[in-house]
Amino acid sequence: MNERDRLARIITTVIGARPQFVKCSLLGRELRRRGIDERLVHTGQHYNPELSEVFIRELEIPAPDVNLGIGSDSHARQTARMMIALEAELEGRRPDAVIVFGDTNSTLAAALVAVKMQIQLVHIEAGMRGYNRRLPEEHNRIVADHLADVLICHNERAAERLRQEFVSGRIAICGDTMRETAEYFLPRALKRSMLAAVPEGRFALLTAHRPDNVDDPKILAGILEGAGRIGMPVVFPVHPRTRKSLAGIAVPPGVILMEPVGYLDMLGLLARSELVLTDSGGLQKEALFIGTPCVTLRGETEWPETIETGMNVLTSNPPTANEIVAAAREMSTQTGESRPQRRVRLAPLIDERFGPIDVARRVADTVEKC
Ligand code: UD1
Repeated sequence: MNERDRLARIITTVIGARPQFVKCSLLGRELRRRGIDERLVHTGQHYNPELSEVFIRELEIPAPDVNLGIGSDSHARQTARMMIALEAELEGRRPDAVIVFGDTNSTLAAALVAVKMQIQLVHIEAGMRGYNRRLPEEHNRIVADHLADVLICHNERAAERLRQEFVSGRIAICGDTMRETAEYFLPRALKRSMLAAVPEGRFALLTAHRPDNVDDPKILAGILEGAGRIGMPVVFPVHPRTRKSLAGIAVPPGVILMEPVGYLDMLGLLARSELVLTDSGGLQKEALFIGTPCVTLRGETEWPETIETGMNVLTSNPPTANEIVAAAREMSTQTGESRPQRRVRLAPLIDERFGPIDVARRVADTVEKC
């Protein structure tokens, strides 16, 4: 058997929710470049075009080979239905390895099915912990990490966390896939004209979709109140989950609601906003990579590196209006430098904390050796 015969050539990649499209884009391109047969399976967890198709198109991801069409449901029903459909999918074509990303219910379902079918499981973005057991993402990432045969970490700290938890899989440090994707697509995002709803001059960007922040209209109203008092207009692309709780809430003047935006418009908004207020994990990182200060609308983060750079600050669970105003003020004191100057200053800090930059190549090297 020669060296090439021993390499994994048949891969199934499972995606399903917005952040996973971001994470699979450049890796898929690298796998195809190497002649690896990647079958892309979309669970259908996100199905609104603005959460799914727009991302797939903008990130140059080929149309998924199959969409399982699972859609929204309770955690147990959604995960169980994904598992049943994924088992049938993997029985039809036994790949050398299954790749999963991050911490959504699609990640959990695919991880459980792959391990039970004794197919090598690769977990990308392994070793993250927020240490808040209320979040479904925390359960999903712990389970995926402990089931995975190959754990792809962005840095040594994530790897060390996994060693301390005695995971049984092989750990590889490959850098941060979202960073590589943001750097690759940023020039394209900046060429697009700004969305019509975005005001002239200084503005901040708000996103909120975590159940603990948005399912209770009183908590969501507090977040909007805080956003309305930070002293500049706030642009708020609204996740469908959040839209449901907005009915009956008085949105402060200056908070501009809009439909969810695609990947390129989100990068463009991040790059032009003074400040981002968010409960998303991915956006905390993307803000840092682009040089925008961030207020995290949670009491903890799975990305402590963003805090250490001085570019992100936490609030509480749930965040109050006063805390948001104080945190926004704290982060605004940073604005003594231009964004290019800030990006130059941050570059070595980001390199140190987010590992190597040729991420897709490193991950593909590791996947091939599954
Ligand atoms: C999911 C992930 C979360 C990730 C987020 C990115 C889990 C547990 N959560 O959260 O980690 O940060 O995606 O956006 O996997 N909905 C629609 N259209 C859609 C999808 C969802 O209207 O295309 C609505 C439905 O009412 C649904 C709700 O949003 O019940 C929540 O969707 P779900 O996929 O369960 O979780 P997200 O909140 O999107």
